[in-house]
Amino acid sequence: MIVLGIETSCDETSVSIVEKEKKNNFGKVLSERTLSQISKHKKFGGVVPELASREHSKNLDFIVKETLKSSKISLKKIDAFAATTGPGLLGALLVGTNYAKALAISSKKPFLSVNHLQGHVLVSRMKKSIPFPFICLLVSGGHCQILLAQAYNKFKILGETLDDAVGEVYDKVSKTMGYGYPGGPIIEHLAKKSNGKYNFDLPKPLLRNKTLDLSFSGLKTAVRRIIEKGITKNQQYDLAKEFQNAITECLIKKVDSSFKLLNKKLKICNFVLSGGVASNEYIRKSFELLCKKNQISFFAPDKKLCVDNATMIAWAGLEIMKYRKISSKINTPPKPRWRLDSL
Ligand code: KG4
Ligand code: ZN
Repeated sequence: MIVLGIETSCDETSVSIVEKEKKNNFGKVLSERTLSQISKHKKFGGVVPELASREHSKNLDFIVKETLKSSKISLKKIDAFAATTGPGLLGALLVGTNYAKALAISSKKPFLSVNHLQGHVLVSRMKKSIPFPFICLLVSGGHCQILLAQAYNKFKILGETLDDAVGEVYDKVSKTMGYGYPGGPIIEHLAKKSNGKYNFDLPKPLLRNKTLDLSFSGLKTAVRRIIEKGITKNQQYDLAKEFQNAITECLIKKVDSSFKLLNKKLKICNFVLSGGVASNEYIRKSFELLCKKNQISFFAPDKKLCVDNATMIAWAGLEIMKYRKISSKINTPPKPRWRLDSL
């Protein structure tokens, strides 16, 4: 079974061809091409939706052809065409969704509608056997959710951010410090230079609150106020570190509570960290440690598969085919807002 996946929900035009291997049911990437639009959006300090759609429509056809060529697979060998149909920017989603539908119709093969967040979660199962149910912390530029993954299409949201997503806060802090987008890798790099001399006593909203929900806008504002007062380079490094520690402490506390809460009812053996922020080394290490303490196995996709990519969409397509075996409706519209608990 071979699926071609297309991801165009935001600022990456990505195409991937993934084959499910007979011997172990794992996924093998035959070819992947990703074109980042970061340089196009940089001067605007964030993603410009109209520009994103235009770039996708300019490049997608070429990228599909490139991916097919380097996979050495002919179009006829593709068993299904998957695309991210939400959540994301409407215009951007339309480009990838319509392209995949056109390929499916002309090849008389199934079209598979994939939720972008479903892709982020399921890609962890591409090379490792992680049985359902498992707990997943999904942390990206648009989302921050603690999930109970019960099946390929069944997710319960145990807690989520009430305001900003973690990646979004990283991006905003980086911008306030005068650096670029995406802010996550920049802040992570600055934090590594810290010698911990200065303390800023940052707020950790909802840390002691009993729910599993999170909140980061107060932390973002506190960091912005400190920067606006004027800080030295060394203070900037320390602030980056303290900011990263505060975010991590909030995430760890809530995921730890979710382990304790769920283990009263069902035995949770596996935890998955996913989404763009999951490529952060400090956050990965902190969760590895937490899992060890709780005797839970820790999984995180390769860093390349944490940030947006079409491999996760093609793989989710393969998981859908395994269980459902039918095409999505060809008139499935793109859904800019599409919650994981409504699949
Ligand atoms: O999953 P993703 O590629 O796109 C969305 O679905 O949103 O996540 C992008 C987000 C950006 O906000 C980016 O700053 C953040 O992931 N990110 C990181 C790191 N690498 C990317 N955040 C913290 N540390 C990183 N190393
Ligand atoms: Zn994403």
